[in-house]
Amino acid sequence: MKKVTVVGAGHVGATCTDVLAQRNFLDEIVLIDIKEGLAEGKALDIWESSPIKYFDTRVVGYTNDYSKTEGSNVVVITSGVPRKPGMSRDDLISTNAKIVMEVTKNVMSASPDAIIIIVSNPLDVMTYAAHIASGKPANEVFGQAGVLDTARYRAFIANELNISPMDIQALLLGGHGDTMVPLPRYTTVSGIPVTELIPKERLDEIVARTRKGGGEIVNLLGTSAWYAPGAAAAQMVESVILNQNHIFPCCVRLDGQWGEKDIYLGSPVKLGRNGIEEIIEIQLNEEEMALLKASSQHVRDVMKVFDGMGLL
Ligand code: 2OP
Repeated sequence: MKKVTVVGAGHVGATCTDVLAQRNFLDEIVLIDIKEGLAEGKALDIWESSPIKYFDTRVVGYTNDYSKTEGSNVVVITSGVPRKPGMSRDDLISTNAKIVMEVTKNVMSASPDAIIIIVSNPLDVMTYAAHIASGKPANEVFGQAGVLDTARYRAFIANELNISPMDIQALLLGGHGDTMVPLPRYTTVSGIPVTELIPKERLDEIVARTRKGGGEIVNLLGTSAWYAPGAAAAQMVESVILNQNHIFPCCVRLDGQWGEKDIYLGSPVKLGRNGIEEIIEIQLNEEEMALLKASSQHVRDVMKVFDGMGLL
């Protein structure tokens, strides 16, 4: 029995559920929300698309009933409020920290063995909060950010070169915020270093757009993105459940890599059955290291706000 729970039936949670259902590798997806009827309604709508989209993964929704999530292999937590124009992801901490910790405890009561993937913002610190609330080993609690951020970066490169986004491989480090560190030196197009195809000044512009990619959508829509974030979380679930061992950038607890410890930060990892199977400490040049340090400092500042909230 392959079972996944998605907590939060907002746009991101519903999109993640829809993408997972369409991939058709699960027996059951449970969607949970605190708002009466929301998870039931979205799950039913997705299930009713099954004869058209050709999947038989059962999709069910419940209002806050965690007993129905029992025995989940993976739980995706999307709970919390999204940002509005003018807000940074960090502004969400006062609302989302409490929600994410409570939800994590509820998830643990029904599925103590589940692997937990956090999507709520501010992502790096919410993943750290969930790790503490769960009491689980760090390889089983991690966050979705890099799959989304590299997807945006790859989509922009595909536009620039008028090529298929599927040919682009890329890595990214650091926090899920405007200090994230896309790595052109580790970006290739069908094996060709991107630095040979796009001039530095243009690549710098693409990197800058990637860093603010979430904000670009917030400014257009008045709320944050969901299609790419939901699909990114679904891709991570698939790598875990099917033990695909993909190398993805994920938000993980570092243990000395790049001199960083006791912090959740984006890093390339091997993602398989046990969650984080391996953290891959790639070589950085001086400039990349300085950018990573600035990003980690930013995340540590938000961690201090969280530590000061008295939730621990
Ligand atoms: C984003 O970058 C919601 O943080 C998410 O769009």
